[in-house]
Amino acid sequence: MATNIVWHEAAVTKAERRQKNGHGSAVLWFTGLSGSGKSTLANALDRRLNELGVKSYVLDGDNIRHGLNKDLGFSPKDRKENIRRIGEVAKLLVDSGQFALTAFISPYRKDRQHVRRLLEEGEFIEIYVRCSLDECERRDPKGLYQKARTGEIPQFTGVSAPYEKPLSPEWTIDTEGSTVEESVDCMLDWLRQRRLIP
Ligand code: PPS
Repeated sequence: MATNIVWHEAAVTKAERRQKNGHGSAVLWFTGLSGSGKSTLANALDRRLNELGVKSYVLDGDNIRHGLNKDLGFSPKDRKENIRRIGEVAKLLVDSGQFALTAFISPYRKDRQHVRRLLEEGEFIEIYVRCSLDECERRDPKGLYQKARTGEIPQFTGVSAPYEKPLSPEWTIDTEGSTVEESVDCMLDWLRQRRLIP
């Protein structure tokens, strides 16, 4: 870390921003295998929150790797750095009074735990997007599993790299057993019950 840097307090606090927005702010951290439905769910929820006038923004693995994290690959070290940077960006969004909807495989518990610790109590909501490897492989929306099986893509999560499922996520969505609409309705209820949205 650089020396001679001093934290500058913001003139407008997170609490003031939340009050003005009329809702809370938090990270909704979607984690799961490739093809499990993370991006689909995060974007569907984002659409509904937007319609309700709730400020939210999706950070998506494939998209972030086109820009901010285009220097990173899929080694454990790079995945760790990927998640660390996303955690910091998500924290900024929470400070700005918005919901950060993050859709990253984030296969390592330790890395997810690191992001949880960056945030205040209740601000990190881990959502395990559960889907069997067989079903993800059957869906194979980008043809990546096929490439992983032939060795064309190395270190592919679920095939040649690990996925550590959450031990006690705030929420689990089974995308083999429920529709996108059902899951989004449940998530909205969950957020309402906790008074995070009106
Ligand atoms: S991670 O593990 O959290 O750092 O990964 P993430 O940033 O979410 O990026 C996952 C997307 O990258 C594509 N892709 C791979 N995924 C896993 N393993 C390997 N080796 C790999 N190579 C490319 C893939 O499209 C992932 O997107 P999703 O949406 O998960 O299918």
